Amino acid sequence: SLLIKEMYRNTEKFINQSVTISGWIRTLRNSKAFGFIEVNDGSFFKNIQVVFDDTLQNFNEISKLPISSSIIVEGKLEATPNAKQPFEIKATKIEVEGLSSTEYPLQKKRHSFEYLRTIAHLRPRSNAFSAVFRVRSLAAYAIHKFFQDRGFVYVHTPIITGSDAEGAGDMFRVTTLDLLNTPKTDDGEIDFSKDFFGKETNLTVSGQLEGEAYALAFRNIYTFGPTFRAENSNTTRHAAEFWMIEPEIAFADLKDDMELAEDMLKYIIRYVMENAPEEMEFFNSFVDKGLIERLENIVNSDFETITYTEAVDILEKVNDKFDYPVEWGLDLQTEHERYLTEEVFKKPVFVTDYPKDIKAFYMRINDDNKTVAAMDLLVPGIGEIIGGSQREERLDVLEARIKEMGMNLEDYWWYLDLRKYGGTKHAGFGLGFERAIMYMTGMSNIRDVIPFPRTVKSAEF
Ligand code: 4AD
Ligand code: MG
Repeated sequence: SLLIKEMYRNTEKFINQSVTISGWIRTLRNSKAFGFIEVNDGSFFKNIQVVFDDTLQNFNEISKLPISSSIIVEGKLEATPNAKQPFEIKATKIEVEGLSSTEYPLQKKRHSFEYLRTIAHLRPRSNAFSAVFRVRSLAAYAIHKFFQDRGFVYVHTPIITGSDAEGAGDMFRVTTLDLLNTPKTDDGEIDFSKDFFGKETNLTVSGQLEGEAYALAFRNIYTFGPTFRAENSNTTRHAAEFWMIEPEIAFADLKDDMELAEDMLKYIIRYVMENAPEEMEFFNSFVDKGLIERLENIVNSDFETITYTEAVDILEKVNDKFDYPVEWGLDLQTEHERYLTEEVFKKPVFVTDYPKDIKAFYMRINDDNKTVAAMDLLVPGIGEIIGGSQREERLDVLEARIKEMGMNLEDYWWYLDLRKYGGTKHAGFGLGFERAIMYMTGMSNIRDVIPFPRTVKSAEF
């Protein structure tokens, strides 16, 4: 059958023609002799209206169909210049494909996002989630297109890994052990040498280290895959399973890295605005008023750049506004990040050159020996959306840093090799995909931009 999207995009071609569509009933109203059905066929954000009357032999059956029943409709597509929708189908035949139960939980009234989270398997049928997950799909495509058009090689980094890329320890362990038969060492610890991989392994927190290996072969690469963090942060911006995009570029420094990040983010936003206008209109009207205008400003103006030290100077002056006072050497909290982007600059802000002690081991140490060539991109409404850095390419400095941080040099043998065999200046960053979707749609909870969210105490689906 014909897809609704086709009808909306090539209306002229189908007006006054016989068409057949198939889809699910979103709403149904009827009187004695005729009725209206809004059908969604999944191909498009919008519905199509079907008009039927008692010339249909199954008029009574159709009139009583519960919402969400699936039907096949034959009829004529007619222009309706005076109505809200541009056209409708005058049905000549309606077949019932699958009857829905009258207990279908998504009735016409608007449901809260909290409620819809409890029916994650049905929520993609609602308008809001239809829009969110179409945008998510398009944004993923835009990201691939952005990098592929620029010659970046897409690298599939491992999900199961023996290294801790961030050195932060928030990892989910991978083991085949069945708990009753766990091999133990003499001290009663789990004996990973007897486990499947013969060593302790985890779900990856980032593909960066492996990405670096490929950047030093292909020059410009990106990863785009799931990452896992066992952070016990029950916030609207943290998930235990989230997707990350991590480009890595060789012969490049922090400035090149920030340019790439800004170009990429603007590209994705533009792409989604151009290719999902109906969905964006929906978010602008029902989720976040003024969203489109704000996004247009973002793609048409330059991001701000300040150093961490400058940010601290600004924030310290208004410390009375914060739950956690700012002080040089402490990491910025979401409240500080949001103050910078929402109150001070009112646009995306790169904060650079953080103290080395609050950042990962692989970041390049600056000449001051106190800060590293790091950048976080902060955006209004969310805070950190991107984290990146120039990488430490000097073998001796990197080795010293790994030791200084109490990490095991042997665990990083292959990573250190990359500095031995023609190391170059290189840099990269990670974009949190869900945070990017939140930013583009105005959705305010990460649980509402990933189909089946995994967060603390929640993995029902
Ligand atoms: O700042 P992060 O931890 O940086 C890295 O992992 C680096 N290896 C990236 C790189 O340089 N290649 O994470 C990057 C981004 C964050 O800015 C945030 O947007 C997102 O990943 N992120 C999360 N998103 C959702 N839930 C979580 N628990 C997240 N943790 C990080
Ligand atoms: Mg970060």
